[in-house]
Amino acid sequence: MKSKTAFIPAFAALLLAVACSHEPAPPPDDGWVYNPTPYHFQPPPFFPLLDVPPDNPMTIQGVQLGRMLYYDPVLHPEGALACASCHLQEISFTSGPAVLPHINLGWSTAFLWDGRVQGSLEEAMLFEVKDFFETDLARLEAHPDYPRLFYEAFGEKGITYERAARALAQFQRIMASGNSKYDQAIRQEPGVFLSDAEVNGYELFFSERGDCFHCHGGILFTDNDFHNNALDAEPEAGLGGVTGSPYDIGKFKTPTLRNIELTGPYMHDGRYATLEEVVDFYSEGLHASPTADPLMKAVPQGGKQLTAQEKSDLIAFLKTLTDTSYTTNPALASPF
Ligand code: HEC
Ligand code: HEC
Repeated sequence: MKSKTAFIPAFAALLLAVACSHEPAPPPDDGWVYNPTPYHFQPPPFFPLLDVPPDNPMTIQGVQLGRMLYYDPVLHPEGALACASCHLQEISFTSGPAVLPHINLGWSTAFLWDGRVQGSLEEAMLFEVKDFFETDLARLEAHPDYPRLFYEAFGEKGITYERAARALAQFQRIMASGNSKYDQAIRQEPGVFLSDAEVNGYELFFSERGDCFHCHGGILFTDNDFHNNALDAEPEAGLGGVTGSPYDIGKFKTPTLRNIELTGPYMHDGRYATLEEVVDFYSEGLHASPTADPLMKAVPQGGKQLTAQEKSDLIAFLKTLTDTSYTTNPALASPF
């Protein structure tokens, strides 16, 4: 298994190779049946439309295969790890420092902290299987079930990186979270009310004073873009290491704040253990640097200088974004 680094040339070459390969559909001579059932996925209320590529429609068979691959160490060349070994459902599919959670990635088009993979979920999954895991396809071919399950999902014989990526992408698309207390409150569900502290935190979050919403706003609580949020006076390369542009130094993917209560430690290097530390950073810990985002307007003052009350209100609001129906959703749990 390689680190998730330095893959772009190989990835581009792979895309070309994938684009040019066509395999003839062999006759179904093993009694295998290709009869895909459409998977009717309903995004949470108020979410944008889910972009599903026409060549990878969601099917029951494809989603189920993706779910199996996600939880099965068979993808790993030594069978040592599954995706789910580092991406744990009970904590919003993350674990430990720096592991990005899997939540609402169906609405993302730029992946990894430094944006090394841009494009569709299929492209992100292809990177994970081919470049990160370096999956040994022979292990899948030799498996008693996977050759048939791939056929049932895609109607062609043979297991390829591309098909594994398509199945994983189908599963990722159903990994949607939109049932937090906050969601229930904006849907005006009976009996769900935000407390005074939560409402104050909400107003601060979406105000110019608190100013979290410019980057973490919208129903997804991320702009799916890259920013230098003024963590360091001498920031790490971040997106700049990928694009080679000095203007991108120190820019990292804006993480969603959905389920943020569950996903510490925080930031791309896990430097903050708690939400209190994160809020202290935005309040008093900002560092000027050439690429610090202009939206971080309080950099000259070292931060927004929030009061103790404002800090605890903000944290109370952030905790309303916790969706335990996501972290316990049986449809997303291990199928084994
Ligand atoms: C050894 C732990 C580990 C395993 C196993 C693992 N990941 Fe990850 N994953 C990470 C880390 C760490 C990151 C953040 C890396 C970075 O951005 O540089 C990450 C990030 C991601 C992202 C980017 C999310 C985003 O918001 O941009 C995706 C997608 C992803 N992993 C999918 C997978 C899939 C699919 C598998 C299985 C094939 C997998 N991961 C297996 C540790 C792991
Ligand atoms: C200019 C855009 C921007 C603004 C404004 C902003 N953030 Fe962030 N936020 C980011 C980026 C980018 C990261 C990831 C930085 C990194 O890891 O290097 C981040 C990280 C975080 C994290 C850690 C997420 C994780 O999964 O590790 C939290 C929590 C957070 N921000 C909360 C807030 C709050 C609360 C506010 C308002 C007080 C705020 N942010 C304002 C861009 C922004």
